[in-house]
Formats: sequence, C-alpha cells, structure tokens
Amino acid sequence: MTQDAILERLSAALGPKGVTADNETLAPWLTDWRGRITGSAIALVSPKNREEVQSVVRIAGEAGVPIVPQGGNTGMVAGGVPRPHDQAILLSLRKMDAIRSVDPGDNSITVEAGTILSRVHATAAEHDRRFPLSLGAKDSATVGGLIATNAGGTQVLRFGSMRALTLGIEAVLPDGSLFEGLSTLRKDNRGYDLRQLLAGAEGTLGVITAASLRLVPAAPHRCVAWLGLETAPNALATLRRLEAALGDAVESFELVPEAALALVLQHIADTRAPLEKAHRWNVLVELRAASDPEGLRTRFETALGEILSTGLIADAAIAESEAQADALWKLRETIAEAERIDGMAAKHDVSVPVSAMPDFVEDATKAVEQRFAGARVVAFGHLGDGNVHFNVRAPAGADDKAWFAETGGAVNRFVHDLTHAAGGSLSAEHGIGQLKLAEFARLADPARLAALRAIKQALDPGNIMNPGKLIPLDNSAENP
Ligand code: FAD
Ligand code: MLT
Ligand code: ZN
Repeated sequence: MTQDAILERLSAALGPKGVTADNETLAPWLTDWRGRITGSAIALVSPKNREEVQSVVRIAGEAGVPIVPQGGNTGMVAGGVPRPHDQAILLSLRKMDAIRSVDPGDNSITVEAGTILSRVHATAAEHDRRFPLSLGAKDSATVGGLIATNAGGTQVLRFGSMRALTLGIEAVLPDGSLFEGLSTLRKDNRGYDLRQLLAGAEGTLGVITAASLRLVPAAPHRCVAWLGLETAPNALATLRRLEAALGDAVESFELVPEAALALVLQHIADTRAPLEKAHRWNVLVELRAASDPEGLRTRFETALGEILSTGLIADAAIAESEAQADALWKLRETIAEAERIDGMAAKHDVSVPVSAMPDFVEDATKAVEQRFAGARVVAFGHLGDGNVHFNVRAPAGADDKAWFAETGGAVNRFVHDLTHAAGGSLSAEHGIGQLKLAEFARLADPARLAALRAIKQALDPGNIMNPGKLIPLDNSAENP
C-alpha cells in the first residue's frame, strides 16, 4: 500500500481532523522528553474512540506499517516515539480522555487511556477517594502510558506500582480485536492475566483504550518534612524507625543528594534551601491520615525528635502549612526538569533489594568516580522501594557531547554491571523502550528473553505494535 493510500484510508476511518501528516504539528511528538531520540512518522492519528483505534490497527496491519502508541510523551526511555527509520503511524490517545465512571462503593474509577493523571487525582477527590500514585509528570502523563510502563512514582512504598492499582483494562490487540477486560474484580483466576501482560508491555502487545483503577479512602491530613543527613544507610534506618513509630502512615520517603538539591536551586524558579546547612543527603518524607491531624503531627514530632537524638539525622524541618508542604515537594518533583536544563546525563533507573540500596548507592558512587575521572554522580529517588535514579554527569567543565560520545556507553555498562552483580534490575520503573534495549539484551537471562519473544510472536506475529521497543531482536548490543 502506498503512503498516500494509507493516509487516505486513515482519513476515511477517522475523519480529516483525526489524521495529520503536517511536519510542524508532528515535530513536538517525535522527540522524547529528554531530547535523546527523534523518530519518523508518516502521520499522527488521534482517534476519538476504541472503534477508531481498531480501524487504525487494522489498516496498519494490512499495510505492514508500525504503530507507536503515545500518551503524554513523558516517558524516560523513548518508548513513546518512533525509531528514526520507522515511518510509523504515531497513535495519540490524548483525545480519548473521558471519565467513564466512578464507583465509590467499589473504590474504583474507570477512565479512557488518554486521561491525565492529575485529573484522575482530582476526580477521585471529588468523591472523597484518592488514586494513590503520583509523579513529577502528573500534569502530562496519561493513564495508558502509566499502565504501559507500569510506572512507579512517590507512593509505591505504601500502595505499589501501577500494576497493583490497575483492576481492569480495555485494549485493542494487534489483530484489531477488542479485549474487553474492564472488570473491577479484586479476585479473578481465569488463567493467564491479560491485564498484567498489557501492563508494562510498553505498547508492544496492543493499545490500551481504557482502564479501571483502584481507589483508596481519602486521607486529607498530611505531614511533610525535609530531613538532612550524612549517609544513605542512615536514611534507610530512619525510614524503618518511622515505620515502627507510625506504621503505614509513612507514604513517601524520597532520597535527594546534595547535588540534586543544588541543581534544583540553581535552575528552578521560586525554590529555596529547606535547611540551614547543606547535607550530603536529604530525605523528603510524607505521612498521611484520614483523621486526627494534631495526633499525627505530635507522633511525627516525637518520632523525629527521638531519631535526631540518635544522630541518624542531623536536621529536620516540618512543613507548617500546605504551601510549605508543596514547596518541599517541588524540590523533589523538579529534579528531573533541573537535570534536563543542566545538560546531558547518563540516566540509570536501577533497583536492588531495599536493604542493599544504601550501601549500593555509596559504593557504586565511589566505584564510578574512581573508574571515570571527574564523573559526577547524582543518585536520587525512591529509596524505600530500593530504586534510585543513578545518574552520571560529565566532569565539570568538560564538553558534554564529546564526553558522552566517548564514555557514555562504558558508563552505562559499568553501572548496569554493578546493579546486576547486586541482584538488581536495570529498569525499576521507566521500562526498556529504545534506550535500554541493548543493555537489556546483554544482561537478561535467556529464558526471560525467550518467553518475552514467544509472547510477542503469539500476539503480534506481524510485529506492528511498537517494534524495536522492549523486546530485543537478539542478544547482541546491536539492537537499535
Ligand atoms: P508516553 O511517554 O507517551 O509512553 C510511554 C510508553 O507507553 C511508550 O512505550 C508508549 O508506546 C506506551 N503507551 C502510551 N500510551 C499507551 C496506550 N494507551 N496503550 C499502549 N501503550 C501506550 N516514571 C516513573 O515510573 N516514576 C516517576 O517518579 C516518574 N517521574 C517522572 C517525572 C518527570 C518530570 C517526567 C518527565 C517523567 C517521569 N516519569 C516517571 C516517566 C513517565 O512519566 C512515565 O513513564 C509515564 O508512565 C509515561 O506516561 P505517558 O502518558 O507520558 O506515556
Ligand atoms: C523521578 O523519580 O523523578 C523520575 O523517575 C524522573 C527521573 O528519573 O528523572
Ligand atoms: Zn523515579
């Protein structure tokens, strides 16, 4: 089928407003958030409903053209943009953003895939419930993208990743059929779980068109504090003490090194240092409760006082108002943006067992600094989940581009080898996409790769759904 014929069929199915091949309109959606990959597409299609998604998938299948599903394009591994040579159909879900239903009695919400995360939060709150997953990109990331990457974020500690919060999925499979899995059942043992197969599949097994999500009771009272401390092991010890004192009120526990805070203070407007002195490590902690805000605060102050007296933490500031709590969260949630403004970084989204993470962070930092003279490590993130973003920047004053061209690949392999040796994963929450594919192929065990390929082959024999993402073609580092 010629390109013109494909565009004609797409326009006939979606109407002229649903299809564009205009370069200017397409351009912002072809480059990933971090600006590392620019792909190519013959068209951007924006279906309004699942039937239109089915039409696009059928046309692409007949024409043998790749489809790249895209939500907010905030992904960190370039999974939502085509490869440079793809000439793909870029399928945006952003017009499909209806809230289909909210059922407070069932503690569930059903939304279309293009619904933005902060809207899910707001809608749940209108019903005295909450959707307990959040991240810095909450105003752009969509439910479809969050499920397709099995996103984590800052509340995994208590509520788990996106998989744990996804009750049901509706999706168009690669043959154009509709999987109607929008149930909100908490228990369902009818064999293989297609919902869990589609979650974390990064768009390689189908297009998610809607999802039912788990809600939890509202917990309007929060205590947010910023802690200053000198070692990563002290941070984990602090978390365990807080949990012992306050139980599962502890919902977030985010590690911020001095270097990450410095980047935020340098690049992000309206931010200021929360503690008098700089500390090697900082932690943002948030507690939540449905009632008794004074009691929560008193118990928190007592626990923090005790921990301060042990010397595990050096300083602490508790937010006195919602505005102060928001200001502390801004320091954490804008790290990725500050890092992007600052320049290039070799980003590593690694996990190891939670108890091993504090020593891993300290030891791996020393090892990288020793192996790559002058390299600057910025390791921040979800310490309580055993997941940090172990990012490495070029030496101060170096030509970033030249340094990464020469050294970037070796840095990636070095950090991933350390992670692998510690029994960890090279993708804790961002996925594999295009950027981690070669490293995944290099380090994954053959049985895992064979099973992934077999599932992909069974559901998408024509390889039209997001090819070149997540599933390595072979075990070489040559994967695109
Ligand atoms: P996109 O980037 O558009 O796509 C991501 C992947 O999902 C692609 O493979 C795409 O093909 C696929 N996809 C998208 N929609 C669908 C669909 N409907 N059906 C099938 N496949 C689909 N991630 C975390 O896990 N934790 C964090 O703390 C975190 N913080 C972030 C902070 C910032 C500032 C930014 C920019 C990103 C952050 N991310 C984080 C990464 C990102 O927000 C998540 O990966 C998010 O899940 C992507 O959602 P999206 O709608 O932007 O998806
Ligand atoms: C975060 O935790 O802030 C994100 O995952 C973004 C990033 O890794 O840069
Ligand atoms: Zn993260």
